[in-house]
Amino acid sequence: NKRLDEWVEEDRLDTRKIQYPRRDLASAATTGLNTPKKTLTGTTNSRPSSPGLTPDPITGPSVLAALQQKQQKNRKRKLDHTESKSPPTQEDEGRRASIGSAIGGSMGSLCDIEIPPLITQQQTVPRQTGSLATHSDDHAITRIKNMKMIELGKYRIKPWYFSPYPQEITNLDCIYICEFCLKYRKSRKCLERHLQKCPFKHPPGNEIYRKGSISFFELDGRKNKLYAQNLCLLAKLFLDHKTLYYDTDPFLFYVMTEYDARGYHIVGYFSKEKESSEDYNVACILTLPPYQRKGYGKLLIEFSYELSKFEGKTGSPEKPLSDLGLLSYRSYWKQTILEILIALKPQEGQEKPQLTINEICEQTSIKKEDVISTLTNLELINYYRGQYILTLNKDLVESHRKIMEKRKIRIDSKYLHWTPKDWAKRGKW
Ligand code: ACO
Ligand code: ZN
Repeated sequence: NKRLDEWVEEDRLDTRKIQYPRRDLASAATTGLNTPKKTLTGTTNSRPSSPGLTPDPITGPSVLAALQQKQQKNRKRKLDHTESKSPPTQEDEGRRASIGSAIGGSMGSLCDIEIPPLITQQQTVPRQTGSLATHSDDHAITRIKNMKMIELGKYRIKPWYFSPYPQEITNLDCIYICEFCLKYRKSRKCLERHLQKCPFKHPPGNEIYRKGSISFFELDGRKNKLYAQNLCLLAKLFLDHKTLYYDTDPFLFYVMTEYDARGYHIVGYFSKEKESSEDYNVACILTLPPYQRKGYGKLLIEFSYELSKFEGKTGSPEKPLSDLGLLSYRSYWKQTILEILIALKPQEGQEKPQLTINEICEQTSIKKEDVISTLTNLELINYYRGQYILTLNKDLVESHRKIMEKRKIRIDSKYLHWTPKDWAKRGKW
């Protein structure tokens, strides 16, 4: 995981621990390539002479030079591409070069930085999954974390990963994001000016759920494109393995907020394909860092399954899951399935309660393979005398009870006002 990776100055490179490329293991064993000699200073070449390998010394400067060269090549290729797609405007002249591969474009005033409809290379790649996976090695360099800090509402947050905000913004110590419309500004002053005229106090779209201070807003990635794109840019700061910035049309977005006298503050969101051929009910899911580890992630997940229940379908999150995504989903599946199993009573004439896997799926909307993997991980399934038996021991039941006591915030389906749409019947989204 590259969480919190960053560009560092040369004096922070420790070249002593570099492992050098080997032709094959046999020659490595005889040339001693596995054990480069240690040197005292971090930046001098510590590589032992070895026939057949490239003569360039691997030092801090040479690594940096190679990176820069690759970056320049990349940038040029992207520029050639974007230039041929969209002729530069007058304001763009002379600025393009510094914008690079990310979203750039003209700046109306000193403060107005919008996402222009710039056609990028990524946009031309056909969408293969719900969240447009376009990572290739070419992007490896530009994918390194590029932002120092964001300010969002009352929080200052350190980003975890790369996100393609315009390059002129990424050089700043902090960027300022309107917590209601998610537009970004380069200084607090600019944001204050924006806030004076920003009409929003909540995300766009329909409020489809409200209980206590928690609300969910549903918005369409086609109808609320700018907000959806800004949300994806923000989310990308904390999501490494998913890429979705431009083509938001095929998605719905469910934004969870917490209300106070100042408005509806964004806590997290998930996106969902309008139509999924693979039964995905979540494409990307995020709890913003200040709200993490408080149960909001599980609340988002619970909400996504509640929608699936309303649709009468089972669903699963889009793969791959991140490390934190996997932890959260496993925990949600485990708690949800145990809740059902523990509450189950034997029917009349039965000694023990009985339940099929399909019934668990129907009651929870969790997809069959996720139910099976959860039961298997919990080591609950035993095969005995030609039957599958689920055995719950007392410790498991007791620890589950304690955990559920602590899980205070829950989705209450009574408060969900929503009718699923059949997007397949609607032609174009
Ligand atoms: N270390 C260890 N465990 C963690 C951590 C952590 N940093 N963060 C969450 N967990 C565990 C919690 O302990 C909890 O399990 P438990 O109840 O069994 O103890 C479970 O994960 C969920 O915790 P929540 O508080 O409900 O979840 P949170 O609000 O922190 O959100 C989320 C989880 C959404 C995955 C969040 O970490 C996040 O936004 N991460 C960055 C983006 C990301 O990776 N998203 C998922 C990508 S996969 C996909 O999009 C389909
Ligand atoms: Zn705003």
